[in-house]
Amino acid sequence: MEANPPKRKETRKSLRIKVISMGNAEVGKSCIIKRYCEKRFVPKYLATIGIDYGVTKVQVRDREIKVNIFDMAGHPFFYEVRNEFYKDTQGVILVYDVGQKESFDALDAWLAEMKQELGPHGNMENIVFVVCANKIDCTKHRSVDESEGRLWAESRGFLYFETSAQTGEGINEMFQTFYSAIIDLCDNGGKRPPSSMGIGFTKEQADAIRRIRNSKDSWDMLGVKPGATRDEVNKAYRKLAVLLHPDKCVAPGSEDAFKAVVNARTALLKNIK
Ligand code: GTP
Ligand code: MG
Repeated sequence: MEANPPKRKETRKSLRIKVISMGNAEVGKSCIIKRYCEKRFVPKYLATIGIDYGVTKVQVRDREIKVNIFDMAGHPFFYEVRNEFYKDTQGVILVYDVGQKESFDALDAWLAEMKQELGPHGNMENIVFVVCANKIDCTKHRSVDESEGRLWAESRGFLYFETSAQTGEGINEMFQTFYSAIIDLCDNGGKRPPSSMGIGFTKEQADAIRRIRNSKDSWDMLGVKPGATRDEVNKAYRKLAVLLHPDKCVAPGSEDAFKAVVNARTALLKNIK
């Protein structure tokens, strides 16, 4: 037996990964990348033409990773240029502007575009997605609140960060967490590790919160027909209260949804004999 066995060489290769940015035009995709890579902000809008490509080396935990970033143009005009860049991607930065509801509503269409381009054998499960709720410095014009964005992201198993490319808020933290999750994915043979799958709330809870948020009146909020009886109102209330009670439900927005349901019930019962 050797007294001093030679130290085993670190054999872990430096990683190469591919990430892409997605989201409507003008939401700040290029500025987020520029803020992280070049530590600067450009206030003038310079639309990305097709694709911007860059390579950067980053240190995450004890690893060096080489990141190929494909920054996509958000304008529909560039669809033909974008579509071939979706494949072989380990990470997606999905961006919307918190002051522009349409850019948030468009996130589903971005996922659909990617899914379509990856084809029937493409697997979106094993890609790390981070959602950036960007331009949080523009507080006056905010139209998508944090819990709404977070719920959308977390109910899909995506990371969520509030960012401002202008002030730099949230940017480094977002990239570090994002790259860290990609390393975990690569170390796990390209599959999302089981630990990152648990989101802590159910689809039923997420759907209920979304439905409550979008309801047009108290009847609609409780999911009963206008003119329902006291019993029907109470029954519907109890079901939602159990589902969304803040002690039991950790889904983003559950507290507000619970309060809204309590108020809706009170308002309805006042007018039912
Ligand atoms: P396309 O390349 O056309 O898809 O747009 P993009 O998503 O890359 O947007 P870009 O990064 O070019 O930013 C669009 C505009 O928003 C520019 O005028 C930026 O200066 C501005 N902008 C980007 N991020 C922020 C932010 O966090 N806060 C504020 N106030 N403005 C921002
Ligand atoms: Mg751009």
